[in-house]
Amino acid sequence: MKSQQKCIVIFALVCCFAVLVALIFSAVDVWGEDEDGITEETCSRTCRMVIVENIPEDVSLPHNGTTPLTAGLHSLLDLATRHVEIVSPHWTLNSTDYESSIPTAKQGRLLLHRLMGLKSQKVNLKVASDLTDSKDLKVLSRHGADIHYLNMTTLTNGQLLSSFWVVDRKHIYIGSAGMDWRALSTLKELGVILYNCSCLALDLHRIFSLYWQLQYKDFIPSIWSKRVNGLFNKKRTLPLILNNVKSEVYPSNSPDVFCPKDRVRDIDAIFNVIQDAKLFIYISITDYVPLVNNGLSRYWSAIDGKLREASLLRNIKVRLLVSCWEQTHPLTFNFMWSLKSLCMEMPNCSVEAKFFSPREEPDGTIEGINHNRYMVTDNAVYIGNFGWVGNEFVYNAGAGLVISQEEDPEDRNVTMPQQMRAVFDRDWHSRYSKTLQLNKIPNCNKHTILPQSLKAWDESVDEKDSPNASL
Ligand SMILES: *[C@@H]1O[C@H](CO)[C@@H](O)[C@H](O)[C@H]1NC(C)=O
Ligand SMILES: *[C@@H]1O[C@H](CO)[C@@H](O)[C@H](O)[C@H]1NC(C)=O
Ligand SMILES: *[C@@H]1O[C@H](CO)[C@@H](O)[C@H](O)[C@H]1NC(C)=O
Ligand SMILES: *[C@@H]1O[C@H](CO)[C@@H](O)[C@H](O)[C@H]1NC(C)=O
Ligand SMILES: *[C@@H]1O[C@H](CO)[C@@H](O)[C@H](O)[C@H]1NC(C)=O
Ligand SMILES: *[C@@H]1O[C@H](CO)[C@@H](O)[C@H](O)[C@H]1NC(C)=O
Repeated sequence: MKSQQKCIVIFALVCCFAVLVALIFSAVDVWGEDEDGITEETCSRTCRMVIVENIPEDVSLPHNGTTPLTAGLHSLLDLATRHVEIVSPHWTLNSTDYESSIPTAKQGRLLLHRLMGLKSQKVNLKVASDLTDSKDLKVLSRHGADIHYLNMTTLTNGQLLSSFWVVDRKHIYIGSAGMDWRALSTLKELGVILYNCSCLALDLHRIFSLYWQLQYKDFIPSIWSKRVNGLFNKKRTLPLILNNVKSEVYPSNSPDVFCPKDRVRDIDAIFNVIQDAKLFIYISITDYVPLVNNGLSRYWSAIDGKLREASLLRNIKVRLLVSCWEQTHPLTFNFMWSLKSLCMEMPNCSVEAKFFSPREEPDGTIEGINHNRYMVTDNAVYIGNFGWVGNEFVYNAGAGLVISQEEDPEDRNVTMPQQMRAVFDRDWHSRYSKTLQLNKIPNCNKHTILPQSLKAWDESVDEKDSPNASL
């Protein structure tokens, strides 16, 4: 009798032990599955990269080696076999109302239909977003997408402006274009797609995981899970062979509170690229406003100061191409002019500034906005999700990517900075770029420089989803 009891106890213990072991192994498995068996050791460092661009139909610029954005995004969906992770500041792909007037508007709906069809191909779509009332997201959710909502108001008092894709932890897209039908039709957008690049995809996936963990949270954890720490940064760059050229790459993230251990902040990534430039810094962005506003406007010297230092003290040639559109801050002209006049009587100093304004409608509004957000130097490219406005870096979430490549001494391979520079030069020398002239403020918007208009701007930057401010 006693021995029987003993047996039962031992049996129970063995069972407990077995369950425990099973649990431990399943935890390991979950981990393995989540990372898709790709680790830092086994990930791919030989990648193919293309620049993707949306050039509006009525802006007559050649692609010059870049891939159309829609083709690029569809190619990623063609490759997807397991997961597609997307973070985007907008979800307004369904454009039915505009299709009669703008034929390319249907591209948005086509992309939405592809995303809706992923579940039936056994591909898991995950979306992190701060837009609780997007119709697109409701439709996707009904079609089996996993959506995590972040309350960015409580987290950082900002918005989620990050715009990137991670496909099967292998391929990535990052760039200015969000999931907005206009990004595929009427806006001029630029981004990059890297194929077969699991090392970088792993790290970008960690940024996505960080958003994923913040669902319904009303505070930012003081200690992040180790699995969202940065893998690669300025000190520990990711060595890659990109299109046959040796490269060093790392992603960046914003705002500060979204940067766990070893994650580079966007602003530092920009500083690094400016600091490492030896000959030139060319910048193409929608807005250039070195101000921070939290009820009271303050000068935000971070990037402006570094550009002054680079041009005046290191003789780096600076070119600034800024968009001229309805929401152009009235002080943009002043800040650009002030940079330009820095080089007065300095023979080796050069700062040039132009406004990009593709076409003006008869009613004075401007269409075909240049929504680019990149910087190219003689040895690196930075692609980000923000306009260069203080508020964006301080409050909003966004990601970026730094790609450094030295020039090939024998000039056999075309480097990424060279390709990007060709794109910049095309825009800079195009008839849409207008040189800044003193005493002639370009008529980007109907605001004049009055305190009321500054106030109007401060209010409008908060309204991401108002029809005009949704860029
Ligand atoms: C797109 O919008 C139209 C009209 O607003 C609606 O009828 C249609 O169902 C929407 N498409 C999807 C896929 O939700
Ligand atoms: C986000 O949080 C704020 C303040 O806690 C709350 O007022 C707001 O309703 C929340 N937004 C959503 C979409 O839940
Ligand atoms: C990725 O790499 C594999 C194997 O090297 C190759 O067959 C495939 O074409 C590559 N995919 C892309 C999109 O470049
Ligand atoms: C250029 O490409 C060739 C192969 O096409 C490669 O062997 C060489 O190392 C590359 N040069 C640089 C600087 O990466
Ligand atoms: C400008 O550059 C030239 C050639 O590099 C140099 O000789 C000259 O001293 C520089 N002038 C100034 C003011 O830095
Ligand atoms: C774009 O490409 C075309 C043809 O390849 C070439 O003629 C033109 O000079 C290029 N333009 C720029 C700005 O690079």
